[in-house]
Amino acid sequence: MTKHDADQFTVKREPFYKEVGGEVALYEAAYARRMPVMLKGPTGAGKSRFVEYMAWKLGRPLITVASNEDMTASDLVGRFLLDKDGTKWQDGPLTTAARIGAICYLDEIVEARQDTTVVIHPLTDHRRQLPLDKKGELIEAHPDFQLVISYNPGYQSLMKDLKQSTKQRFAALDFDYPGAELEAEIVAAETGVDAKTAGKLVQIAHRSRNLKGHGLDEGISTRLLVYAGQMIAEGVNPNAACKMTLVTPLTDDPDMRETLQAAVETFFV
Ligand SMILES: Nc1ncnc2c1ncn2[C@@H]1O[C@H](COP(=O)(O)OP(=O)(O)O)[C@@H](O)[C@H]1O
Ligand SMILES: [Mg+2]
Repeated sequence: MTKHDADQFTVKREPFYKEVGGEVALYEAAYARRMPVMLKGPTGAGKSRFVEYMAWKLGRPLITVASNEDMTASDLVGRFLLDKDGTKWQDGPLTTAARIGAICYLDEIVEARQDTTVVIHPLTDHRRQLPLDKKGELIEAHPDFQLVISYNPGYQSLMKDLKQSTKQRFAALDFDYPGAELEAEIVAAETGVDAKTAGKLVQIAHRSRNLKGHGLDEGISTRLLVYAGQMIAEGVNPNAACKMTLVTPLTDDPDMRETLQAAVETFFV
């Protein structure tokens, strides 16, 4: 691996990240021992942003993989490709990360099939190895390599869950939406809306979060609040901005939409 390969995955600018509760020091300690880490929490709560921030802070390249149910072990590890000179091996993202000493972030790993998930096992214990079975090569992970996965406990059915043998290879940090004041600061900083507007958006989100399990699968995430703030900062009427970013994406149920829209109208007529 050349320096160029690592450079390409370097986080160049400091990502904006507000610490919620001691997670930065905890992650640093885990990284010092190259411990695999699982970030647990609902969508849009800051998991990806946190990994980007930590990669930047630790000066490590970051390779992110979005998991899906069609993902195979070869998509992670690599495969032989045909070209005009015959076959050529191409490393997958997990292999590249293990070679260059990157942080490898497998986003929503639970979406992947279990036979895909097991390829990470030898990388997550004392072996720190990755066997490329098809190529007949055994990779020793670079000393700086670390594996991070994200996991949304809300979505899991019994059919779709990580096996204990996978779960118990990770230390875990819980991610929930930040407290009201902090979340408003994040929304204001990310979008440029004033503190008062950001505070109102957060209060709308709180109302929706109370409806989780009572007609909503998930409440309004920090990510959607950032969208709302961005629309308002673009000069869109706040009520219309909230409808487009906080109500319509969240649910198709007419009664639920009405309930959410009523919450919006308490703050923005
Ligand atoms: N603690 C935080 N500090 C800064 N921004 C945050 C924080 N939490 C959430 N955000 C904002 O919310 C958005 C969604 O967060 P993200 O990391 O993509 O969520 P997840 O990966 O958990 O689905 C980010 O793009 C960012 O604007
Ligand atoms: Mg994410």
